[in-house]
Amino acid sequence: MAMNYSEAVMDHFTNPRNVGEIENASGCGTVGNAVCGDIMRVYLDIDDDGVIQDAKFKTFGCGAAIATSSMATVLVKGKTVQEALEVTNKAVMEALDGLPPVKVHCSLLAEEAIHAALWDYAEKNGIAIEGLEKPVSDISEHDHAHGADDEEEEEE
Ligand code: FES
Repeated sequence: MAMNYSEAVMDHFTNPRNVGEIENASGCGTVGNAVCGDIMRVYLDIDDDGVIQDAKFKTFGCGAAIATSSMATVLVKGKTVQEALEVTNKAVMEALDGLPPVKVHCSLLAEEAIHAALWDYAEKNGIAIEGLEKPVSDISEHDHAHGADDEEEEEE
């Protein structure tokens, strides 16, 4: 059965923005979903003022995962690290004019990947970003699959 994707989702899937890597990135985070097996990596280039100058991603995953990581990188560019925390999966979904319910977890992965990259940046610089918690599914330090509690969805 064909899923109903918005034009924005199709656009970001077929023509994703910011695909690639950033060498010597200020922060890099890799997250995965143990259930579908999709993996997302986000790189952030953050200047001395804490402003995200560039963001790139690599996603090994479904079309919605590609579209949401593309949109997430678009949304965080030019923002401060604090503002980037507001780029939640809901914000990404809204910017994409919605996602089918079974694809909501793909947008969560995008949020987690941004958070994982911000966490990496904070750790490297010995700073704390208010409101940022260690990402649950950052798989850059260990490569085994995680348990089902990665599956919690945000209800707000
Ligand atoms: S199906 Fe898992 S990220 Fe899309």
